[in-house]
Amino acid sequence: MRIVSVIGARPQFIKAAVVSRALRQRHSEVLVHTGQHYDANMSAIFFDELDIPSPDVNLEVGSGPHGEQTGAMLAGIEGVLLREHPAWALVYGDTNSTLAGALAAAKLGIPVAHVEAGLRSFNRAMPEEINRVVADHLSTLLFCPSQTAVNNLAAEGITRGVHLVGDVMADALAFAAERAQRRSTVLARLGIAGQGYLLATVHRAENTDDPSRLGQILGALDALEEPVLFPVHPRTRKAIEALGYRPAPQVRLLDPVGYLDMVRLEQSARMILTDSGGVQKEAYWLGVPCVTLRNETEWVETVQAGWNVLVGADASRIVRTVGSFVRPALRPVVYGEGEAAARVCMHLSLDQDSIAGGSRSNGSG
Ligand code: UD1
Ligand code: UDP
Repeated sequence: MRIVSVIGARPQFIKAAVVSRALRQRHSEVLVHTGQHYDANMSAIFFDELDIPSPDVNLEVGSGPHGEQTGAMLAGIEGVLLREHPAWALVYGDTNSTLAGALAAAKLGIPVAHVEAGLRSFNRAMPEEINRVVADHLSTLLFCPSQTAVNNLAAEGITRGVHLVGDVMADALAFAAERAQRRSTVLARLGIAGQGYLLATVHRAENTDDPSRLGQILGALDALEEPVLFPVHPRTRKAIEALGYRPAPQVRLLDPVGYLDMVRLEQSARMILTDSGGVQKEAYWLGVPCVTLRNETEWVETVQAGWNVLVGADASRIVRTVGSFVRPALRPVVYGEGEAAARVCMHLSLDQDSIAGGSRSNGSG
């Protein structure tokens, strides 16, 4: 069976690493990199560290406004799909690369399988929310990380083709956790080994594109009394420079780091401050308290368990929460235990058989 997988942004490389490894044991995969992320430390480093096969096609679409970027991806992906005639188009998460992959395939009548389906923030101002909703409604197979995601789809009338498989990022972390401890030298490089610190990441449009929210977040980091390590996403780097921000001495702005270094930094952090989806989950899995710099989250189970607190972009609330966080006694298993990629592969094979047998034309509804 031939599968065209479409990826393009940092978290998709991490998700695809584990699924690709499982897929290629039985099937032929054509890996398409849209080129949405392209800096070496936003793209190539993940392929190298996680043994992801080199992309068969790189569309080199690059950055741009949503319509322009997504449109260029659509045209490029369509060409690949017409050439390859895959049994499935496999898309991940909620980026513009996800949207373009799902839309290009659906228009050609190629069934779409969506990994990380059913997530909702119920905030349509987020570009990711638009991408997810459209991708889910175009998908034949919907791989959900949580029961909440399954329920969200049911509320939109999508019940067919929905599978609760767990989160492929849990598989990725299981693969990387021990490797990171063994191989990553980041703590020594930063001279922080054995010291307490906070780890921060910020990249959501709602925070970077709003100088007032970004100013509040940076003000909070400056007001914290512990060292803060802050690997800065290129989008955020631009926004920070535009603000003319000069960090307080305990705040260290770093370039984006590779996955193994990131996992190592997460493992040793006293607490994590982030607006990233993936980082919220990794904090939970690693047992590190998380303060989420957003007003809502898709990963509600981490909040319900008491390990994640939503603080928005209010400087005093951020500082107060970092100072008063009480670690819960329990950390229930959420989003599976590292078997999601194998389940994705199993369903791709089984459901292809049923499509070939004519029992299904579309999984939605
Ligand atoms: C994208 C996704 C977001 C995801 C994030 C993961 C969309 C709409 N957003 O956001 O859901 O959480 O990736 O990191 O798809 N840039 C560079 N070098 C790069 C990549 C980006 O300099 O290699 C800069 C460019 O100025 C670009 C900006 O970052 O305009 C934003 O990049 P883009 O891919 O459009 O969105 P992200 O904010 O990365
Ligand atoms: N990550 C990384 N290096 C960094 C920042 C993040 O490897 O400098 C990893 C992080 O551990 C997680 C993923 O990137 O696995 C999350 O991606 P991001 O925060 O860019 O996007 P989101 O998950 O919010 O879509």
